[in-house]
Amino acid sequence: MPRKIIIDTDPGQDDAVAILLALASPDELEVLGITCVAGNVPLGLTARNARIVCELAGRRDIKVYAGCDRPLRRPLVTAEYVHGKTGLDGITLPEPEMPLQAQHGVDFLIETLRAHPPGSVTLVPIGPLTNIATAMQRAPDIITRIGQIVLMGGAYFQVGNVTPAAEFNIYVDPEAADIVFRSGVDLVVMPLDVTHKALISRTRVEAFRALPGKVGPAVASWTDFFERFDKEKYGSEGAPLHDPCTIAWLIRPALFTGRHINVEIETEGRLTTGMTVADWWRVTDRKPNATFMGDIDTDDFFALLNERLARL
Ligand code: RIB
Ligand code: CA
Repeated sequence: MPRKIIIDTDPGQDDAVAILLALASPDELEVLGITCVAGNVPLGLTARNARIVCELAGRRDIKVYAGCDRPLRRPLVTAEYVHGKTGLDGITLPEPEMPLQAQHGVDFLIETLRAHPPGSVTLVPIGPLTNIATAMQRAPDIITRIGQIVLMGGAYFQVGNVTPAAEFNIYVDPEAADIVFRSGVDLVVMPLDVTHKALISRTRVEAFRALPGKVGPAVASWTDFFERFDKEKYGSEGAPLHDPCTIAWLIRPALFTGRHINVEIETEGRLTTGMTVADWWRVTDRKPNATFMGDIDTDDFFALLNERLARL
């Protein structure tokens, strides 16, 4: 029986790969809908990009919703410097023809969680947590109905990528992240500590490009584009494929290892706002609230990606 999920996203090339991986895995995952949030680029573009990705996968049936267009309390911070002006730079794909749903993404989250048996729906946020937190604030009854939240965000050993202390998804909306991390929902966190080990390389891009169909070349073009920023910044082999780590965990959790620890969000630090304060060494008596991942089997992760993307 496939696990029912809602992907909450700010595409973004790595978000796009995560969505494709989910849509290529119907035996494991049933995508009930995709809710878009402002993050890498403004909401109008994330809602456009999510539909472009669904059409690339031949899935015009997927319901795509626009959610919140700004963080709970702060001005929006975007990342065009990483993802390009459109948020999906690297390849030009046709404007989407499939419609955006009229319902607000937050209302879709609330309605869907109320309509399904408690615990049967998993949320997969791979952008700022604004939509998830807004749904929790507007309808607290849904909190105990969420089966699990599997999110990309935060960092401990890798510290920050948008400030010296904070990872982008948490930094954009730290108040939203604080609500989610305090919610009591079963959290699985894919931090930079893991995603910085899921690095694109020339060989891996060429393996994407060699896949049959049009999805592989598109993913190769996106990862080519996405890589240029991180290579300059980190001098690393290639860019980290952040968001697909969440979907890969849902399909094959054994690819990852982590610890069940306490993770709290800094919302007032002069230098550390947006930091995930992870008690990795359990030096406090704060209650563990998240399975915080620390390692990934990188080669098997990319093998899974290639095997699944080839199906589309
Ligand atoms: O810090 C990486 C995260 O920020 C990823 O989700 C990427 O898509 C951006 O949203
Ligand atoms: Ca993202």
